[in-house]
Amino acid sequence: MRVGVLTGGGDCPGLNAAIRAIVRKGIDQYGHAIVGFRDGWRGPLENLHEELTIESTRGILPRGGTILGTSRTNPFKGEEGPERVRETIEALHLDGLIAIGGEDTLGAAARLNGEHAVPVLGVPKTIDNDLAATDMTFGFDTALQVATEAIDRLHTTAESHHRVMVVEVMGRHAGWIALHSGLAGGGDVILIPERPFDIEEVCRLIQRRHARGRLFSIVVVAEGAIPAEGTMEVAEGEKDEFGHVRLGGIGHRLEREIEARTGFETRAVVLGHIQRGGTPTAFDRVLATRLGVAAIDAAHEGRWGTMPALRGIRIELVPLDQAVEKLRTVPPEDYEVAEPFLG
Ligand code: F6P
Repeated sequence: MRVGVLTGGGDCPGLNAAIRAIVRKGIDQYGHAIVGFRDGWRGPLENLHEELTIESTRGILPRGGTILGTSRTNPFKGEEGPERVRETIEALHLDGLIAIGGEDTLGAAARLNGEHAVPVLGVPKTIDNDLAATDMTFGFDTALQVATEAIDRLHTTAESHHRVMVVEVMGRHAGWIALHSGLAGGGDVILIPERPFDIEEVCRLIQRRHARGRLFSIVVVAEGAIPAEGTMEVAEGEKDEFGHVRLGGIGHRLEREIEARTGFETRAVVLGHIQRGGTPTAFDRVLATRLGVAAIDAAHEGRWGTMPALRGIRIELVPLDQAVEKLRTVPPEDYEVAEPFLG
């Protein structure tokens, strides 16, 4: 067989481990050829590819990012996208394609498979951890570790200066990184996209801490957190090819608002892409490797239109469209675990 592979959307730690697993098992065990596409869906659209070998994928297990490059290219943006993807697959004599991605990349993969009968299967990844049908995505554990360490570091400087520190972490629609880093790092306020916040309540929690003699506070906010309607103005950013607004800014907005309302000196730190960079944790390397192995097994069996997913502690194949029909956001009961520790 000849199998293509691409990585699309935001990069995340563990992508190289998944590529390596596909190449190793695909070539060594099955004798398949593996073709890597450059820069997400741009690769099959513009036929940008390279043959991947065991030699060319050596030493990449601990490396962050993706050796294939990535982009937020949407194959459904132009009219001929699906046809061009099919033409490239045929021109390279591929039996099918493994798309490693999050909601956008896998959404496109599901449509290509469902609406255009393109042989594609998916592998779930994203630091946001928000894909349905899988209990976890690789990249999340590393991002969580980075965010938690940052909160630990900010604690000592916040305490020394008697300041409020606002830590903005990633999380467009889901607050998994904010909630879990807030829990692990002892955040005093945790704001997530699933629960529009009231700035007055945020200030009340901080003031209550001060009244109890705790003269510093840590506010963990997901970049996608929004104020409850009519409570605080926020600016809208520009949009990408999938129609997502470029986020980042709520931390600084909160910094100004908290300082003005409470009179407490406040500083904001935006962790941004630091959360996506660097070496993956052992957990992410192992999860990515297990998913990569399951993906090449599925390709070998011609199980296009599926996605290996973590279900409990086992990897199972699920229909690809099930994985992208909705996002896995933070349920209220998960947030409630943090409530006794706030303020
Ligand atoms: O990949 C997910 C993610 O990291 C989101 O958490 C974040 O909103 C977005 O990507 C940032 O995208 P970009 O790297 O294009 O700025």
